[in-house]
Amino acid sequence: MHAGLDPAAPGEPLLAGPVLAAPYHLPGPADAAPYAYARDANPTWTRLEAAIGALEGAETVAFASGMAAMSAVLLERLAPGDVLVACADGYPGVRYLVDEHLTARGVDVRLVPTATDAFAGAAEGATLVWLETPANPGLEVADIAAVAAAAHAAGALVAVDNTLATPLGQRPLDLGADFSMLSATKTLGGHSDLLLGAVSVRDAGLAEGLRRWRTRAGAIPGPFEAWLLHRSLATLELRLERQSDNALAVARFLQGRLDDVRHPGLDGHPGASAAARQMRRFGPLVGFSLPSAEQAQAFLGALELVAEATSFGGVHSTAERRGRWGTDAVPEGFIRFSAGCEDAPDLLDDVERALEASI
Ligand SMILES: Cc1ncc(COP(=O)(O)O)c(C=O)c1O
Repeated sequence: MHAGLDPAAPGEPLLAGPVLAAPYHLPGPADAAPYAYARDANPTWTRLEAAIGALEGAETVAFASGMAAMSAVLLERLAPGDVLVACADGYPGVRYLVDEHLTARGVDVRLVPTATDAFAGAAEGATLVWLETPANPGLEVADIAAVAAAAHAAGALVAVDNTLATPLGQRPLDLGADFSMLSATKTLGGHSDLLLGAVSVRDAGLAEGLRRWRTRAGAIPGPFEAWLLHRSLATLELRLERQSDNALAVARFLQGRLDDVRHPGLDGHPGASAAARQMRRFGPLVGFSLPSAEQAQAFLGALELVAEATSFGGVHSTAERRGRWGTDAVPEGFIRFSAGCEDAPDLLDDVERALEASI
């Protein structure tokens, strides 16, 4: 609620507005002021980074999008001959980046499924381990502490894409990870109206490397988006609580009615015991399969409160047939459902009605 806000001053707003600047006044020496040129630093980012940093218990560097944040970690850290262990089943953007830029420049990439043993078993000889838990879209969960222990014993650094859980759901750095990365486009922003990313670290050298990368690559957040995200963080806990409760209610409603209902809080879900140990909130996502692509489309078309859209984490519920992209190994009728902040009974009625209309 308060992190990153300027001290109270009569006549000043509670949250200062976005600072729109390219150069700042800089008389004399280059270090005469904390802000010189806005590709290096901006007071609106400084406030936002203090707020996300308070959630992560870390130093945070904000980026233009989740992909910009991910690229900063992967491209800044890895050189020819290094070994990356990454998830085979998480957000497909990681695999594109790895195929098109890391493998091509001589990084040895090992893709493994999101499961504690698979990651721990692949860590020997690795330079960096990139974990996404829960993974998008299958919601598999790995034990961050166990993977971090195995990776560190092998001399590797560990990065966790914490987009699905958010730092209020789990804090990867507390569990031993070296980098916690977020697409703030999702639940952190929460209103489906901005793209941003962030990486948090507790090592000053790692933070310095990320900042330098951001300046060199120009992967910088726009001040307006940074301000909007900071404003949105004030309601993150309220939104996450409602969305997590709604997602679990939808999952429980569908369990028994459909096969293959996936949610980290359901018994029997892959990694459910790790999820119960390391997560305080499970986040807004539920996965489930209808028998065919046609039935899945009919279900989506019959929903009235739930928009058919990609992305997730917004206050309005959304859902999509994930197979339409051809990027994930999921059944043709698999739906990724993102629970919003609607009243639970309204949402469950809508889901029940759409399900009846589709099968
Ligand atoms: C888990 C995960 N990580 C990273 C990203 C990329 O984030 P952005 O779209 O903000 O670049 C996404 C986007 O869907 C995602 O789901």
